[in-house]
Amino acid sequence: MVKNNTKYFCTECGYEVAGWMGKCPSCGAWNTLVSQTTVTGSGKNRNNTVSSEIPIYNSDKFSWTKSKGTVPLSDAGQTEYSRTSTGIHEIDDLLGGGLTDGSVILVGGEPGIGKSTLLLQLADSYPQNKEILYVSGEESPAQIGMRASRLGVTNPHITLCAETCFETIAEELNKLKPSLCIIDSIQTLFSENLAGTPGSIAQAREVTAGLIRLAKSNTLSIILVGHVTKDGNIAGPKTLEHMVDTVLYFEGDNLGTYRILRSIKNRFGRSNELVFFEMGDNGLRPVTSASQMLLSGRPINVSGSVLTSTMEGTKPLIIEVQALITDSPYGTAQRMTSGLDRNRVAMLLAICEKILKVPVSTKDVFINVIGGIKINDYACDLAVITAVLSSYYNLPARPNSLIIGEVGLTGELRPTAQIGKRISEALSLGINTIILPGSCKKQVNEIINKNSAQSINKSGQNCDKIAKCEFMYVDNLFEANDVLFTDRE
Ligand code: TYD
Ligand code: MG
Repeated sequence: MVKNNTKYFCTECGYEVAGWMGKCPSCGAWNTLVSQTTVTGSGKNRNNTVSSEIPIYNSDKFSWTKSKGTVPLSDAGQTEYSRTSTGIHEIDDLLGGGLTDGSVILVGGEPGIGKSTLLLQLADSYPQNKEILYVSGEESPAQIGMRASRLGVTNPHITLCAETCFETIAEELNKLKPSLCIIDSIQTLFSENLAGTPGSIAQAREVTAGLIRLAKSNTLSIILVGHVTKDGNIAGPKTLEHMVDTVLYFEGDNLGTYRILRSIKNRFGRSNELVFFEMGDNGLRPVTSASQMLLSGRPINVSGSVLTSTMEGTKPLIIEVQALITDSPYGTAQRMTSGLDRNRVAMLLAICEKILKVPVSTKDVFINVIGGIKINDYACDLAVITAVLSSYYNLPARPNSLIIGEVGLTGELRPTAQIGKRISEALSLGINTIILPGSCKKQVNEIINKNSAQSINKSGQNCDKIAKCEFMYVDNLFEANDVLFTDRE
């Protein structure tokens, strides 16, 4: 007997309830519950869930999801996951050492940022003895073929499939038995067993659940493309992110040349790591020295431009923060930030005004992090204040210097983590003055002492540079102001 069930899903978090409510009980959002009719339980081929109908072609080989009863913790996790290199070294690193066989990866990003381009390049560089199925619900095989020839894709083991029905895709997978399947995109897929248009929350959830079951039972790696909503989340419910093993997210300005692929979640490696890419005529090319790329074309000896360091996962990045302070033509001064948290900047401006008596509240303030990257590292606080002061005084800060330090509400400077990595990256870029909190002095001295014993750089390249580098320690904003703007009257 066919049953029609109406359920309600939250468009914010994907929470499921039996009846309509004004407020989602899970995430607390108002007016986000939408109805979804699911059709289940026919005598013929309808079943309770989509997942239970999926053909399993290779289940003996793989036992990830098979119940083995209870296992002592000491016996669990003794076997390493088997991984396959994607052929793109930087992406292997991002994933924690290659693509874990049987894992499901969600790649999100705004339209036109380069998701399809990157995945086609990845399919090309994938080990040549492995089959790949590229499922596209958005482009025809002719369109993908044209792009492939532009990108110089030559891998003969890529099979295209322009299909949106999940059951048909599962059959194709059963026939081809690939080791990698790319789905572009999850929002275009639908299951015959469920009512609702493709892209609806119930469809996206059920199809993803089906694909995950397929992946885990067949040593099949699946990469899903997910669209993003206006507020930057992967569209459909947040639950898609909870279901998959890894979430990678494309950031950056899709009009510019640089893109960032960041791991938001990774069950098989570190998260919050990133890779920089440059978009050219032949697709995306990984950038090896991201700091160098971010600093290229930097204006020298101008006011309002300061270098600082941010940690992105385990990687240090040297970035340029710019500030522009102008007289406000209106009653209410404007504050615009790009790449930095607006509230943090407001706090730093308030500290600046209260402690240093710099009247920024009557000025328009524009703060920008160059390269379209978003930073979330408090070690950049002092650099933001320095850029503001530099623009306000119309004086360049110390040339070729790096400014690090978290600023507290009383204007004191707090210690910074991972100082060794930050210094090492700065020295490799030719920076010769580093201004940092006094509380870091002990740590820096240890680094300098250990330096000859290769603590900074194994090749010893930085040994000379660290000896020539001047370290200036400041304990509060007054000292920083004096050290940084010596020419100020
Ligand atoms: P695309 O990969 O289709 O983006 P998405 O799948 O995320 O929507 O397109 C990326 C953009 O990059 C597109 O606007 C065209 C451009 N592009 C290049 O600049 N060079 C290239 O070699 C290719 C293939 C695309
Ligand atoms: Mg695309």
